[in-house]
Amino acid sequence: MSAPRALITGASGQLGSDLQEVLGQRGWQLDALTHADLDVTDDRAVAEAFEASQPEVVFNCAAFHNVEVCEAEEDTAAAVNFRAVKRLAQHAQEAKATLVHLSTNYVFDGRRADGGYAESDLPAPRSVYAVSKLAGEHAAVAYCERALVVRAAGLYGLHGSGSKGGNFVTRVLARARQQGELRMVADQRLNPTFTADLAVGLVAALEAELFGLVHLTSSGACSWHEFTESILELAGVEVPVEAVATTIPPGGAERPLNGVLVSEAAPAAGLEALRPWREGLADYMGRAGLTHAGS
Ligand SMILES: NC(=O)c1ccc[n+]([C@@H]2O[C@H](COP(=O)([O-])OP(=O)(O)OC[C@H]3O[C@@H](n4cnc5c(N)ncnc54)[C@H](OP(=O)(O)O)[C@@H]3O)[C@@H](O)[C@H]2O)c1
Repeated sequence: MSAPRALITGASGQLGSDLQEVLGQRGWQLDALTHADLDVTDDRAVAEAFEASQPEVVFNCAAFHNVEVCEAEEDTAAAVNFRAVKRLAQHAQEAKATLVHLSTNYVFDGRRADGGYAESDLPAPRSVYAVSKLAGEHAAVAYCERALVVRAAGLYGLHGSGSKGGNFVTRVLARARQQGELRMVADQRLNPTFTADLAVGLVAALEAELFGLVHLTSSGACSWHEFTESILELAGVEVPVEAVATTIPPGGAERPLNGVLVSEAAPAAGLEALRPWREGLADYMGRAGLTHAGS
């Protein structure tokens, strides 16, 4: 694939930022538009962005994904995570461009006791966020022939998520230092994934001409409790972490207990698995200056 012209939405988010770096290193021509540059729910602005950019590939990294806020703000969740995706897909189709759209492990209810969820498993979303993301997945493939829908999980990146105030790693370290002890759920499992690794995986999927639905996460899985312990160990922060069970406060959103993704589509397309989550975490923490040696 020669270096194409790409449009990135939500470009200052965790994945958007790392994608810029990964694509930039490969010589892609980028129009990286932040939320301030382009609100994906503004139909006219989206049409103008396509006109100005003439992209061959669109990476939709924009999302409204604070799970609790989505419960309270259904209209915005639907507007960003579903309706805007439909518009992007329609414009991509018209321009004969590829749409890479990001989705989530939360489309599954996570009630399966063991193993992970593959692309062939039936989604069962349990929150406004998850329902809106599943609708976005359908919109992407319904309106664009060259759509690649990528479900990811547990993302953290060097640039932090604006809507969540940093990322899980930095929040855990800050709380550990402030409180001297932590409590963390041990019954929710996931594949924590460094957005720089995911960005490399997205490029590989495009190079393999993979379309449709694919799960892309770091290899392996752990509980939030294990993830927390690994973060503290790499940072050289010694505080006790009590393992607790998930409780959902009244009116709170349900999260999948088993949020682990596995992939059938990626290996079938010849894609190399992303590296194990612990390696990605160590690399991220080193680059962010958060490890014992770097701090
Ligand atoms: N984070 C996770 O753990 C996780 C897990 C699984 C899947 N995902 C999916 O992965 C994708 C990337 O996530 P991420 O962690 O990189 O998110 P992120 O860091 O929060 O980035 C999302 C970006 O979207 C922007 N945005 C929000 N509303 C917008 C709008 N109306 N128009 C344009 N931009 C808008 C945000 O800007 P502002 O902050 O300025 O509003 C932000 O820059 C999302 O589709 C998400 O659903 C995330």
